[in-house]
Amino acid sequence: MLFDTHVHLNDPCFDGDREELLRTLPQQGIGLAMNAGCSLESSKDALKMAQPYDYLYCSVGSHPDSADEVCDEVLEEYRKLCKQNPKVKAIGEIGLDYYYEDIPREVQKKAFIAQMELARELDMPVIVHEREAHEDGMNIIRQFPTVKGVFHCYSGSAEMARQLTNLGWYIGFTGVLTFKNARKAVETAQRIPLDKIVIETDCPFMAPEPFRGKRNNPALVYRVAEKLAELRDISVEEAQRITFENGKRLYRMD
Ligand code: NI
Repeated sequence: MLFDTHVHLNDPCFDGDREELLRTLPQQGIGLAMNAGCSLESSKDALKMAQPYDYLYCSVGSHPDSADEVCDEVLEEYRKLCKQNPKVKAIGEIGLDYYYEDIPREVQKKAFIAQMELARELDMPVIVHEREAHEDGMNIIRQFPTVKGVFHCYSGSAEMARQLTNLGWYIGFTGVLTFKNARKAVETAQRIPLDKIVIETDCPFMAPEPFRGKRNNPALVYRVAEKLAELRDISVEEAQRITFENGKRLYRMD
């Protein structure tokens, strides 16, 4: 059984076959999946989608691309969604993206901090998206020692990942781990504690080899488990079992 700890099943590219995919994922080995919200609207969609499926959960939050929507009213909506729905297991995805700088850095930081405050208040884990903003990202999470979570689709150094795992954070690896040029991700996956590693597809993006460039879906997360098994010299079953348990611990699903 596999836990895909980060998916975007509300993406319009699933419109044609979403129901069939959702219905058949358990037969394809998916035991749990976390559908990550990216904005207030997509967070509500993710919750609605999760309701009929035992294996599907969701998070609520505004991604750095939507940081400009974060205000007291939106935060209050997230607060209510978290308190009223056991399907909501995390705040996210939140964070900083200085690669696509559509939203000014100061606006991104303010939204990230406000949502970290919400996670602290509600005592919930967070899903962090951080790209090319390593220093600011680390500085902000250090301001919240009681808040833990995952750096999803990890793109930092092995050294920074060590710092994160020492602080109790998890590191999420996508299909990027299977790419030929994935030197940094491979090094990180080899050097951090196994009990802090989770796997994800981040679908519909980041399809693993040999499906690179095609539409990704949660069933393909097995490729990330296979690659992790190879890198850590453990069996594929072990890689699946360990990352499944890690995901449950991360999102507190006991
Ligand atoms: Ni994502």
